[in-house]
Amino acid sequence: MQGKFITLEGIEGSGKSTNLDVIMEYLNQHKVECKLTREPGGGPLGPNLRSILLDKDKSISPSVEMLLMMADRKDHVDSLISPNLNQGKWVISDRYLDSTFAYQGGGRKMDMQIIDNLSKQLDLPSPDLTLLFDLPVDIALSRAKERSELDRFEKEPLHFHQRIRDAYLFLADKNKERFRIVDSSKTMTEVSQQVISFLNEFLND
Ligand code: TYD
Repeated sequence: MQGKFITLEGIEGSGKSTNLDVIMEYLNQHKVECKLTREPGGGPLGPNLRSILLDKDKSISPSVEMLLMMADRKDHVDSLISPNLNQGKWVISDRYLDSTFAYQGGGRKMDMQIIDNLSKQLDLPSPDLTLLFDLPVDIALSRAKERSELDRFEKEPLHFHQRIRDAYLFLADKNKERFRIVDSSKTMTEVSQQVISFLNEFLND
């Protein structure tokens, strides 16, 4: 049987990576064999592509940025995501295709139809469950700034991140069957409780 494919999405500082531990612990407790991965950078070409994509000293046009994200994703899907799903393992990815719709489509204002067409041409699998960590942009960015040095995306102005949040909420509304919105403005305990309750619902479906 095919494994399930779960993706985590959200703007910078939305707390999705912090909740990876909660998700992995939950799945281990429920004896689900799973593989944790992330984008950009999950495939063999990942480290090279990731360092180009996040380099704050590089200027990259929106279409080249989108194509590099998609190249990274195809490499990731073929080498890791599909083989694991085909072996019946669950794959948990910190970011996936919705990040390209939100960041390159919403943030960089690229035509979402082009991204959609390309994803179909590349035969990219669709997630079974997408957890969107959502909170107001100003709170999220102040959290992100407390962490480390800002990368090429984190350095963008507030309205860029606002367009990304809006695009995510639009995607969640369009794909209600697989999206679940986690209210990340709550305390860490409350956020992890929401994550667990969505996983319970998914597992018992
Ligand atoms: P990363 O360091 O992994 O940050 P985060 O913890 O926010 O996931 O950086 C990944 C960055 O790449 C992040 O700013 C979002 C961006 N990105 C895109 O713009 N498009 C994409 O398709 C993906 C996967 C990521």
